[in-house]
Amino acid sequence: MSFEKKLDKTKIPNHIAIIMDGNGRWAEKHKRERTFGHENGIKAVREAIEGAAEIGIKFLTLYAFSTENWNRPKEEVYMLMNLMVRSIENESKEILKNNVRIKSIGDINRLMPETLFSLQKIIEESSKNTGLTVVIALSYSSRWEITEMVKNIAEKVKNNEISIENITEKIISEHLSTYFMPDPELIIRTSAEKRLSNFLMWQASYSEFAFIETLWPDFTKETLFETISDFQQRERRFGKTGKQVKDEQ
Ligand code: FPP
Repeated sequence: MSFEKKLDKTKIPNHIAIIMDGNGRWAEKHKRERTFGHENGIKAVREAIEGAAEIGIKFLTLYAFSTENWNRPKEEVYMLMNLMVRSIENESKEILKNNVRIKSIGDINRLMPETLFSLQKIIEESSKNTGLTVVIALSYSSRWEITEMVKNIAEKVKNNEISIENITEKIISEHLSTYFMPDPELIIRTSAEKRLSNFLMWQASYSEFAFIETLWPDFTKETLFETISDFQQRERRFGKTGKQVKDEQ
């Protein structure tokens, strides 16, 4: 039976974030260049977006390129930036037709002008869509984001717009680049690596983690549904006892 049928439709997470990992190893397995792995990763991006839209997830965040990824060989960085442009252009019709809204988080000023242009274009064109929001984390890292948030709040304190006593967790969340969405209930990382790698560190405080074996290019809708089905079996306690959680239900 498909895992989609097993899903409890009343317990679909609002926000899932994915660390797409294993493109290089997938290419190696197929005796091809790393770039072949990234090309095939796009198919998996499509699967993840379609699957998420199908079951009514509100936000899907995809870690496409980290601050640290800028340190990869120049050719690979260039290839990835071009791949993003091509994918966004190829998929834009489908994105708009399917009422998907695209947003991004990260230091986009570092992007190549062509990448920045196509990203901003699709963000603008899809801004009124009301279905699934796909958030592309591009040139993103949590430490970058937290540093920006501190600078931003410090500036407001200096200008007497916020007093130190009024800085709360809520104020901090509102000054992060993810201010427009809830924290992810579930973070998936493919390729059996068990690390957060500078991704959504503040937002992941109470997230469930799924570290799955699948290499990113092999990720399908079915992989997504199976992972969510496993997530639905877990009890999320947020620091409370199991009994307290049951009594509240
Ligand atoms: C990790 O595999 C993957 C990346 C660094 C790139 C992922 C980006 C895409 C699939 C493109 C996304 C595009 C859009 C438009 C969202 P790796 O190279 O680290 O694999 P390895 O650990 O096996 O070497």
